[in-house]
Amino acid sequence: MYKYVIKGGNPLVGEVEIGGAKNAALAIVTAAIMTDETVLLENIPDVSDTNVLLEAISVIGATVERIDRHTARINGSTIGSVSVDYEFIKKIRASYYLLGALLGKYKHAEVPLPGGCNIGSRPIDQHLKGFRALGATVDINYGMIMAEAEHLHGAHIYLDMVSVGATINIMMAAALAEGSTIIENAAKEPHVVDVANFLNAMGANIKGAGTDVIRIKGVKKLHKVQYTIVPDMIEAGTFMCAAAATKGDVLIKDIIPKHLEAISAKLAEIGCDVIEFDDAIRVSAKKRLGKTHVKTLPYPGFPTDMQPQIGATLALARGTSIVTESIFENRFKYCDELARMGANIKVEGNSAIIDGVESLKGARISAPDLRAGAALVIAGMSAEGITIVDDIVYILRGYERFAEKLRGLGADIQQVSEEKEIQKFRLQVS
Ligand code: UD1
Repeated sequence: MYKYVIKGGNPLVGEVEIGGAKNAALAIVTAAIMTDETVLLENIPDVSDTNVLLEAISVIGATVERIDRHTARINGSTIGSVSVDYEFIKKIRASYYLLGALLGKYKHAEVPLPGGCNIGSRPIDQHLKGFRALGATVDINYGMIMAEAEHLHGAHIYLDMVSVGATINIMMAAALAEGSTIIENAAKEPHVVDVANFLNAMGANIKGAGTDVIRIKGVKKLHKVQYTIVPDMIEAGTFMCAAAATKGDVLIKDIIPKHLEAISAKLAEIGCDVIEFDDAIRVSAKKRLGKTHVKTLPYPGFPTDMQPQIGATLALARGTSIVTESIFENRFKYCDELARMGANIKVEGNSAIIDGVESLKGARISAPDLRAGAALVIAGMSAEGITIVDDIVYILRGYERFAEKLRGLGADIQQVSEEKEIQKFRLQVS
């Protein structure tokens, strides 16, 4: 099993380039099979989640040609099956996008119920409600979701809660339905907008993405396109917190600063210098940071996917911070691990009460999920001594060359697979 071994204490200094957004890529790779023409996708992050999905679409027959690490040519005309194998799907939650894409194109999809990070109960009732409103019959048999329709037709759909996945999934199916669809209470996340832009570039007619009302006029078919995936705001935000927590000075490049405003504002509030450029942000921290309160909300609020990283940062800040999670109920598993490093954190209901300590101590800890894992790496880099983060398979799902990028900023971090490599690392850094 892979792990990171980290010697903490180095402030992160330098420049880092951010890759394409994992969550946009997962939807866009899937949407690419909705045309029979060839789609060229650029800026696909080379992380295990997108790689598993590329493999899944090739297993149902799509032609996937990897041109380089971040570019792929996808052709959906060769798809021979609308039934997706559980082996691929259990690993990634975004497999549910295959439902919207296959249902839109073939009016028939069979996809196992998704897996993914265990951060709480993650129902997909709103996705299914949307498909039914578009005229599909949806049944669940032995863990398999079967969606089928003679014709998909436009509908007026009001989402009960703001859901990124449901918004994108309904948008994909409705793009090839007959007539007009309106999605109300839609998610406004940058990756929702990116998927709408991608579908429009393929010939769809989608208006209003980025607001809470999305209007879709169905078209008969979609066509080829060359498209570049938007930068990953969560990878960028993670490096921003890493710069803050280690009292470093990092220029985070190839990003859209507007997408990061909630994070920039919080870091500025606790005492970081945050400077925005056209496509970069510089975050530096010269002194011990201060407390704040954070509540996760749908975009443009503070992202739930950044909650553990800001929590780890606040574990070292002066004063008492309260971090409230309002999207997923099980996102505080990292707090127990931080406590093992000396953090003073108490979780009550959906809030973590964090009494900042002056220093954390290295420990052997385990990544409970993707973003919590990244938060523990931040803690390890800010702590005294050696930290070993086990189960980094979660982190590799969403961060490309994470250790390498952090080393480029001066961190002492190695990805290892065997215990004896940990000893070697200890000798090297001592
Ligand atoms: C996506 C992101 C994930 C991020 C989340 C919130 C991907 C692959 N994943 O997940 O990283 O943390 O958005 O920004 O893009 N809900 C329902 N019924 C539904 C759908 C959602 O009750 O049918 C609830 C969920 O349990 C959750 C909330 O709505 O409490 C938001 O979930 P949603 O936005 O759908 O998250 P995902 O799309 O799964």
